[in-house]
Amino acid sequence: METVETKIENGIGWIILNRPDKLNAINLKMLEELEEVTKNFEENNDVKIIIFTGNGKAFSAGADISQFKELNSISAWNFAKKGRRVMDYIESVSKPTIAMINGYALGGGLELALACDFRIAAEEASLGLPEINLGIYPGFGGTQRLVRAIGKAKAMELMMTGDRISAKEAERIGLVNKVVSLSSLKEETIKFAGKLMEKSPIALAILKHIILYGNDSPLLDGLNMESLGWGVAFSTEDEKEGVSAFLEKRKAVFKGK
Ligand code: COA
Repeated sequence: METVETKIENGIGWIILNRPDKLNAINLKMLEELEEVTKNFEENNDVKIIIFTGNGKAFSAGADISQFKELNSISAWNFAKKGRRVMDYIESVSKPTIAMINGYALGGGLELALACDFRIAAEEASLGLPEINLGIYPGFGGTQRLVRAIGKAKAMELMMTGDRISAKEAERIGLVNKVVSLSSLKEETIKFAGKLMEKSPIALAILKHIILYGNDSPLLDGLNMESLGWGVAFSTEDEKEGVSAFLEKRKAVFKGK
């Protein structure tokens, strides 16, 4: 791969953005490779959790601005649609996803993090959607996902001022789940992933689907999805194991069946 590195270690599929000299700016090639490696990990049974991060001092400083000079309204629209589709795909993956934010998460970089289920950031990280300073605005889903993540007032402030915020401030407004020192970022993220790996992957997948898509539906549809999915969970061996383990006062061992 030209723009991303991957590895699988102890059930974690790592997707590492790898254009450190350009602060992992996302070009078309990176979008294509992100889609491909995410799909490979989704289909690989050895991967239980997917973690996105960046090489060097940035998670990602956003879409590659050097490509913008060549864009006209049609090619810009196509680039935004491509980016959006990749982010939609990443969001839809049935395995839990974590953005491990090691530094700048700006523009498309923050939009990638927003497409993940969880965001764990280093204290040194800086987050924002500065596209407005280029005379444009977020185009990889940020206008919609940020409002859903942190509410309209703060989302409008971030998008319309283009201000960058610290990881601590991002945690305060609910944009990131956890802030840790850069030196412990990997360890803390793996620890968090470990908690998820102890759960039933089927229950997690159904739950994720219902949280994501149920909340974008009318309340009654979301509630119906919840009860239907709850019924489906009772068709799994994992549910039998979870309930038996509780009654037998032992720790459940889920097999994803
Ligand atoms: N697209 C393309 N290249 C980018 C980039 C982006 N989004 N962000 C950074 N780079 C490149 C720089 O052009 C520079 O390349 P060069 O060494 O060939 O000149 C390299 O990455 C390092 O960036 P630099 O600006 O020198 O680092 P810095 O530490 O001084 O500043 C930032 C870091 C993040 C504040 C600054 O790079 C920045 O504002 N980037 C753009 C962020 C943005 O607007 N993102 C939204 C894009 S739609």
